[in-house]
Amino acid sequence: MNFIELATKRTSVRNFEPKSVEKEKLLSVLEAARIAPSAANFQPRKFIVVTDPKILELIQATYHREWLLSAPAIIVALGDHRKGWHRKSDGKDFTDIDVAIAIDHLTLAAAELGLGTCWICNFDVQRCGEIFNTPENIEPIALIPIGYPVAEPESVKKRESIDQLVSWNKY
Ligand SMILES: Cc1cc2nc3c(=O)[nH]c(=O)nc-3n(C[C@H](O)[C@H](O)[C@H](O)COP(=O)(O)O)c2cc1C
Repeated sequence: MNFIELATKRTSVRNFEPKSVEKEKLLSVLEAARIAPSAANFQPRKFIVVTDPKILELIQATYHREWLLSAPAIIVALGDHRKGWHRKSDGKDFTDIDVAIAIDHLTLAAAELGLGTCWICNFDVQRCGEIFNTPENIEPIALIPIGYPVAEPESVKKRESIDQLVSWNKY
């Protein structure tokens, strides 16, 4: 599978088989996240892997969707805003971008292993922070459920065309 094939294969999975994910596979996708680049190489990201059913239930309750209950594991991606690079000229905080790149590595690596993932940002961030008792500089950025996908018919990716997406030499 070349890169374009892999990137096409990765799709949001919202229905998982009742089967846990092997620890070595979880470690493998986390390795993909670990080697992701970050601004100034400050690496302001952390991942909490949730497999314990009791904690899983608490995290699932931060995003009330029936489908999330099928996830055998959820990786909580967090950003450390104190550690992230802030651009001197305007103070812009690049933590979110750094976390997003690492998540993208992780979701692609998961797809390569036949695992399904889905970004979730529309969750109760405050409650999630309370569950892990995170300090105020640490922000839960996304939940990434991960597991073996229930087979679904392949769907066409709805994306803007290259012409809509790209301009050459002007805005
Ligand atoms: C930053 C971000 C936040 C997202 N948040 C959610 C979410 O809260 N719930 C959800 O079901 N999907 C969420 N998604 C998944 C998108 O809906 C999905 O990626 C998009 O529709 C494209 O579909 P695909 O991932 O299958 O290619 C999110 C995706 C991204 C990149």
